[in-house]
Amino acid sequence: MPLLKVTGLSKVFQLGRNKTVTALNNVNFEVEDGEIFGILGPNGSGKTTCLKLLLGILFPTEGSISIMGKNQFDVEAKSRIGFLPENPYYYEYLCGTEVLNFYGRLFGMPKGLIKERTEYLLKLVNLQDAGKLALRHYSKGMLERIGLASSLINDPKILILDEPTTGLDPIGCKETRDLLVRLKEMGKTILLSSHFLSEVERVCSRIAIFHRGNLLTTGSLSSLLNQYGADNLEDLFVKSIEKYDVELESGKPVAATD
Ligand SMILES: Nc1ncnc2c1ncn2[C@@H]1O[C@H](COP(=O)(O)OP(=O)(O)OP(=O)(O)O)[C@@H](O)[C@H]1O
Ligand SMILES: [Mg+2]
Repeated sequence: MPLLKVTGLSKVFQLGRNKTVTALNNVNFEVEDGEIFGILGPNGSGKTTCLKLLLGILFPTEGSISIMGKNQFDVEAKSRIGFLPENPYYYEYLCGTEVLNFYGRLFGMPKGLIKERTEYLLKLVNLQDAGKLALRHYSKGMLERIGLASSLINDPKILILDEPTTGLDPIGCKETRDLLVRLKEMGKTILLSSHFLSEVERVCSRIAIFHRGNLLTTGSLSSLLNQYGADNLEDLFVKSIEKYDVELESGKPVAATD
């Protein structure tokens, strides 16, 4: 059984009385236990919408999601997910330790366990010397790392990361990438949305490419490169999108955006 199974998932946003946006259109994919699954696509292609549907933050217009055999609204299934949003809001007057304590309390974790996890996670993300520092003094890279630590407070089985390296310098990107590989080795399953194709190429075992709310293709990098006759992930990304747009113009696929 796949850890996560998405079937016929669609999301239509109502904009005013007569206008709608189809952010996701009949999307199907599966994520296996222990893999890092890359979610790619141009701006506005539906990546964040898809992740929010998996988290139960948004309700699907159509379709279903199974997480560890349960639906996405199941409390037990949700408690096994960690999430780092695209633009996290940080309470800048809290220090790193207080932020992790806050998220631990939201999960209803006992005090002793929060303390233990906080110490462990600050070390894991290399912020052990910044635990007492207020977040307003953190650099962008440090903020991203405390965000990652917060998403791990509940020791999740599935980690959903929406563009975790945006705005990071090359060292910060590498540190995050190394951490993702370590987390995978610890048995976590990771969904990673990213615009950094080289990062995705390095860490993901399988990828999905979204465009205009449609899932264009999904599979291992090597099989997709073969399928599209592409040299690398960038080439594959461009080719899959161009192919869709050409077909769209000739009237073949269903338009996803109204
Ligand atoms: N709450 C909302 N109400 C109306 N439209 C929305 C809402 N959320 C997303 N959309 C629309 O749905 C489409 C997909 O947006 P989404 O944020 O999922 O894209 P994305 O692939 O994550 O883009 P990016 O790479 O820029 O983060 C866009 O057209 C967006 O404007
Ligand atoms: Mg997004």
